Amino acid sequence: MPESNEQNAGCTCWSCPSVEFKGHVDFRACGQAAFSKAASGQLVVECKRRPDIGYFDPMSITYDTCPEWQKSQYGRLLKGMRVMILGMDGYLGWPLALKLASLGCHVFGIDNFVRRRLVAEKGSQSVLAISSMEERVRVANERLSGTIEFQEMDLLDRKKFFPYMKETRPESIIQFAEIPSAPYSMADVDKAAHTIENNVLGTLGLTFAMRDHAPEASLIKLGTMGEYGSPLTGRPLFEGLFPGDATLQYKGQEWSLGGELTPRDPVSFYHVSKVQGTFSVYEACKYWWLRSYDVMQGVIYGNSTPELDLDPALNTRFDIDEWWGTVINRFVAQTAIGEPMTIYGSGNQLRGYITLSDAIQCIVRLVGLPPEPGQYDVVNQLTDVFSVRHLAETVARIGKHEFNLDPMIQRLENPRVEAEDHPYEVIHEKLENNFGFKSESNLDDEIRNIFRAILEPAAKQRIEEQRKLLFPTTRWSGEKQEMKVLETIKPAA
Ligand SMILES: NC(=O)c1ccc[n+]([C@@H]2O[C@H](COP(=O)([O-])OP(=O)(O)OC[C@H]3O[C@@H](n4cnc5c(N)ncnc54)[C@H](O)[C@@H]3O)[C@@H](O)[C@H]2O)c1
Repeated sequence: MPESNEQNAGCTCWSCPSVEFKGHVDFRACGQAAFSKAASGQLVVECKRRPDIGYFDPMSITYDTCPEWQKSQYGRLLKGMRVMILGMDGYLGWPLALKLASLGCHVFGIDNFVRRRLVAEKGSQSVLAISSMEERVRVANERLSGTIEFQEMDLLDRKKFFPYMKETRPESIIQFAEIPSAPYSMADVDKAAHTIENNVLGTLGLTFAMRDHAPEASLIKLGTMGEYGSPLTGRPLFEGLFPGDATLQYKGQEWSLGGELTPRDPVSFYHVSKVQGTFSVYEACKYWWLRSYDVMQGVIYGNSTPELDLDPALNTRFDIDEWWGTVINRFVAQTAIGEPMTIYGSGNQLRGYITLSDAIQCIVRLVGLPPEPGQYDVVNQLTDVFSVRHLAETVARIGKHEFNLDPMIQRLENPRVEAEDHPYEVIHEKLENNFGFKSESNLDDEIRNIFRAILEPAAKQRIEEQRKLLFPTTRWSGEKQEMKVLETIKPAA
């Protein structure tokens, strides 16, 4: 029997990205959801890794009987699995490269360093000093068992990217290469257009490159929980698609919604670009039998994974300013230098959160259990739902009692157009139930880790240097006046 953490041991060559289908196969005749069963016994495949076994029935070999699928900490992975990371220099891309390399994968990827440039243009910097990509790769290849290779490239440069896809023949592709800031996309028309152009055209080009050169690879595309918005009706935020028994009542008749994409209600032009990415990938799976998991990612926080912690030269970036920082990281940094934590509006806004190390574990598990040909599926990737106020109070408690700091909270006029008091029921079951994900970290411990790292003198100095950039200035309305302070609160002891 496969071990319990081997959620993918029973999978067959049907979903293996190193298998090629032989003959003319029009899966569409079988229908999106039911085709794997219909196709059973009628198809033959050839394995690119084991051409010696000739043509065979894809259902006849499972991952636990195939010598190419080897045990890892997070289920089975293909031996030396070829994984392409787009946006490898980023907050998520770099720790994922390290994790996959530590599990023996052959990792390669690109980045055009737009994130480094835009952070510098804002006048801010990563609080934890980050090495050049050259240095990162050198140190990682010395310390870890797999290999990491990197090329500076813009995903939108299709003349270079298409041959790169052809040459590298990835088995799994992770799409992180986007501009991920809601306030940046709302600051002015040029920044909105930059975000939309970069994110929408990058993902669109990627789907064509896969169609032409890597149709069997599995695509893991990072979306965001912000694509859904927060419906005031309290309708649960399902995992991308309505469950089979969902119905719509209209004028006395009942209609099935099962399997349809759920409504999207993006909350900034950045989120609009992510919704377009969702539709591009969904359509590509339908037209060309690509396969993809679309990850509706909750807000990520933290700076630590076992691989990042090996050497300061391996640090991932850690931003805190109003455009490039995420909320928990910023609250800890504000408290570290005696600035009040800035809550927008009531602070009752509810959002989904996950630590960096748990987010990386989830992606590795998605790599190890590829979708079936033509399958488009969505996972909601988060472990907890917190209000912004709860986050500030937690940072205050830990900062005060464990690091002897003097935390303050400041409620500001909300620069965003968003509901401040709203229901929020998120369904997030697939990662645990289908992929074997088990959280290995939590809010309190991660806040402690962040405090320890950024209270180091060099990091603290870097926060001091961007003190003015922590306060929000970008209003969704476009107005330019400063945000008013509504209330200053000294959290209870
Ligand atoms: N960090 C979070 O909390 C969070 C939450 C929800 C969703 N996401 C999504 O996860 C993904 C990764 O986020 P992140 O926090 O690592 O962001 P990041 O900005 O740190 O990483 C993205 C990387 O992609 C690169 N890049 C952007 N456009 C590119 C292009 N055209 N060609 C080549 N490289 C390009 C950037 O230089 C950067 O290094 C994004 O798609 C983001 O929308 C992140």
